[in-house]
Amino acid sequence: MKKIAVSFLSSSHIARDLEKLNLTDVDYIHVDFMDGKFVPQKTLPFKELKNIYKYTSKRLDVHLMVKDPKKFIKKFATLNTEFITFHLEVDKNIEELIDLVHRYGIKCGLAINPETDLEELEPYLDKIDLVMVMSVHPGKGGQSFILETALKVVQLKEMITNKKLKVKIEVDGGINLETKEYVKDADILAAGSYIIHSPNFQEAITQLR
Ligand code: DX5
Ligand code: ZN
Repeated sequence: MKKIAVSFLSSSHIARDLEKLNLTDVDYIHVDFMDGKFVPQKTLPFKELKNIYKYTSKRLDVHLMVKDPKKFIKKFATLNTEFITFHLEVDKNIEELIDLVHRYGIKCGLAINPETDLEELEPYLDKIDLVMVMSVHPGKGGQSFILETALKVVQLKEMITNKKLKVKIEVDGGINLETKEYVKDADILAAGSYIIHSPNFQEAITQLR
């Protein structure tokens, strides 16, 4: 059964929605954090954001869309965080960042943009806990699923199996009842609009699993 992480980019009442989600069996709260540099969009500063996440009893699945993950890794490590994922496309020492996440006792993920090749992941695959395959361009909720992602997920699963690794696959963006069928190898689905715009959160979550 798949795990579900709920994203809030399309929510206009985050605190209220987080409280509603406490009553569901959703696995993670997917925190999309953007710095206005890695992507043009910018989310609330961490010091405000951390007050919002006090409304949840769920563990956090942190997705850092930032140019310089280091300082944010440190900050999100102070919350109830299961995964910290940053982008492979950042121009930084990836191994150092992976080690930093692990030093906080948190699982580390690497996110890859739709146009990034899977081969670029290869050197890090045995060092991480999760790959977040972006099925939309990072920055906004409510975009359509990019179909090429489906093949990428199959190939990634093959790479992981061949190497006998236990790396989890998360797919992020444009997930709904139709597109979830394209990514059967995913372990975790990050979904925003489909759940947030549904009248019954639990029902939407159950349907996506
Ligand atoms: C895109 C984000 C996603 C996205 C998911 O930058 O990383 O998490 O908001 O939302 P939906 O499901 O609306 O595509
Ligand atoms: Zn995300």
